[in-house]
Amino acid sequence: MLDIKNAVKVFEQGTMIEHTALDHLSLHLDDGDFVTIVGSNGAGKSTLFNAICGSFFLNEGSIHLDGVNITLMPEHKRALHIGRVFQDPMRGTAPNMTIEENLSLAHSRSTARALSFAPSKKERALFRDRLAEFGMQLEDRMKTKVGLLSGGQRQVVTLLMCTIVTPKLLLLDEHTAALDPATAKKVMEITEKIVRDSHLTTMMITHNMSAALTTGTRTLMMDKGRILFDISGGERSKMTMDTLLKMYSNSTNEVFDNDRMLFENAK
Ligand SMILES: Nc1ncnc2c1ncn2[C@@H]1O[C@H](COP(=O)(O)OP(=O)(O)OP(=O)(O)O)[C@@H](O)[C@H]1O
Ligand SMILES: [Mg+2]
Repeated sequence: MLDIKNAVKVFEQGTMIEHTALDHLSLHLDDGDFVTIVGSNGAGKSTLFNAICGSFFLNEGSIHLDGVNITLMPEHKRALHIGRVFQDPMRGTAPNMTIEENLSLAHSRSTARALSFAPSKKERALFRDRLAEFGMQLEDRMKTKVGLLSGGQRQVVTLLMCTIVTPKLLLLDEHTAALDPATAKKVMEITEKIVRDSHLTTMMITHNMSAALTTGTRTLMMDKGRILFDISGGERSKMTMDTLLKMYSNSTNEVFDNDRMLFENAK
């Protein structure tokens, strides 16, 4: 489904501050894999997502999605097949448009007609049904401007926008990190429901180590642009957060350092 071979990305090449953000990284995902990704700050997690989405081209290596070589495909073309949710609830939706207009815009990608933010009657019914599944009463607020919603509500609308047309791949970049713990939990439950119901192949970056080991089917630990550990099956079900952190420090001779994780533990 996703095949990344020997991906290399060097930033600021040829300058004093040249650094390698992806270092000969290879990764294979099967259909329906739900992979969580952890790693210290600057490990290259978001850069990996940017590479998959085509925010830049790789210096070396290749990316195939569903058998198609997308290594040199422009970002806007990949966006038709890849859904992405960011940490910042302000990204991903248009604040001055209503919930139904945002969803309509996302849904019109699937149809032959031009991009449209005026929903048909049928579309409106579909959006209402889908929103009602989440138990946030958003189905009663379809004409509310998205800018007036809370962060958690906006993330749910973004999630639905990204998945209303089933993507080949869903990328979640710490999409609950800016939310309070109760809202984060609710958005995670909704995420898992969407992934399960649509059988989505999903990659989720998180700073929450215990969520990384209990959500999805496989956990990647990244470090310095490489995949340090790839844990699944029985090994994963037995793995604790402490063991994972010990494995990290034994392998790198460094203490795991992610500011958002430390912040989370201090709360
Ligand atoms: N567009 C860019 N230009 C220059 N350097 C970049 C760019 N994007 C990322 N980097 C650098 O690449 C490295 C990896 O960054 P990345 O954002 O992928 O880390 P991360 O694992 O997502 O970290 P965090 O947990 O802090 O979000 C860092 O050294 C970062 O400064
Ligand atoms: Mg990041």
